[in-house]
Formats: sequence, structure tokens, C-alpha cells
Amino acid sequence: MRKKVIAGNWKMNMLPDATIKFIEELTPLVKDKDSEIILCVPYTDLFYALMNAQGTNIKIGAQNMHWEQSGAYTGEVSAQMLKSIGVEYVIIGHSERRQYFNETDETVNKKLKTAFSNELKPILCVGETLEQREVGRQDEVVKSQVKLDLEGLTDDQVSNLIIAYEPIWAIGTGKTATTEDANNMAETIRSEIADLYGKNVADKIIIQYGGSVKSSNSKELFETSDVDGALIGGASLKVDEFYNIIESVKE
Ligand code: PGA
Repeated sequence: MRKKVIAGNWKMNMLPDATIKFIEELTPLVKDKDSEIILCVPYTDLFYALMNAQGTNIKIGAQNMHWEQSGAYTGEVSAQMLKSIGVEYVIIGHSERRQYFNETDETVNKKLKTAFSNELKPILCVGETLEQREVGRQDEVVKSQVKLDLEGLTDDQVSNLIIAYEPIWAIGTGKTATTEDANNMAETIRSEIADLYGKNVADKIIIQYGGSVKSSNSKELFETSDVDGALIGGASLKVDEFYNIIESVKE
């Protein structure tokens, strides 16, 4: 049985005070949960989040990183820097980064390799646009992202990866993929991983769904065969709502 992994993606929201308060309130609520709980916070909150999550079962992640170890890249943050302060997870290739900051499968691939070589656990985001879904190209698009993004990774690295299927048309729009669509794509991704890396790796990899997940749709999503959790944007900014999503995992 794969563990459920529930991750919040705060995007460019939350100041340190709000971060500290959030973790203080969430900690007692989730202390006995079996699911893996991750908060991917802005860089400026990382230190506060790590200090306050110490000794709890809340893990902390960043939302991006550069693929080089160090150097003349003004404004960037390296994997080594994240690791040095105790960050465990990092989101790679979120559609907002692909859309607004020109990330490509090639840069995503480099970032994944660097994340692994620095012992960070990446959450790789993939997903199709509305136009691609409307013409029925979603499987082809997502399979190609998976193949290109993972090129050159070892079986062991892929087994430790989290893939978040996030259809772009469902992010922040209030429109969620149906549970069936989400599970179908999770199955498609898993079978692509089986083709590329073997069934053993495919059985282990965590595949999340992301895109307007809320407590009103999470329970059904988590009952499917292949969706192993969620990457949650808007609904992860409020403790109650985020907790209700965690609570909807059947234990
Ligand atoms: P959303 O964002 O839950 O606000 O749709 C999800 C994401 O972008 O990771």
C-alpha cells in the first residue's frame, strides 16, 4: 500500500508570522496522521517553517530551485542552499513556472537530477492545457513530459519521486478534473513509468492530483486506485480547510 502524500503549495502567499501561526495550529491536529504532510512555502518562510515544524510530522518543501550548484545566477536559489537549512522537498516544473518563467522539459530534467544529487525529494508537476485536452491529446502530452523530464534518472531515483498530475485548466480555476479523469491519468502515468522503469518502480511511485482540490472533492479522489494524494494550492492557505483535506484520507 502506498502512503498518501498531502502537500500544500502556498505559491507567493503567506508572511513569516502567518507561517508560524499556521504550523502551530496544524501540528496538534495532524500529530497522529499516517499520511505524509508537506508544506511548500516561499523561500522567505522556509527558515521559520523549518524551525516551527521541528519535531512534528509536518515536512517542509521549497517551490523551485536552480539546476546549478552555485555561481553567477542573480536571484536564484540552489539545491545545496535548500538542503543546508534542512529542506526535504522541492516542487519542480510547476505549470506556473513553465508558463511564466520559461521552464522547459530540458530545464526540469536538469533540476530533477540536481535535486536528487543533493538528496532533496522532488515533486514533479506535469499536466496538459485546455486546448490539448479539448482535442484529446492529454495522454500523449503528459506521457511525453514524463519521459523527457525523467530522462537519465535511475530506477531508485524514480521510485522516490512524487509526480503531481496538474491539468493546467484546473489550477486555481475552481474547475476540478472529475475523479475518473484524475485517476485515469494517474493510471496512464503509472503505466508509462512501468514501460520505462519496470513494474516495481511504477508500484512505488507516488502520483498526486492537483488542481482545485478542496475538502469537498478530496475524499472521493483519495478513494481511487491510483491517486496517492494531492498537491493543493488555494485550499492549503487555511488551516481548517487544509486539515479537512488531510482528514478525508481513509486510515
Ligand atoms: P489550486 O493549485 O489548488 O489552487 O488549483 C494547485 C497547484 O497549482 O499546485
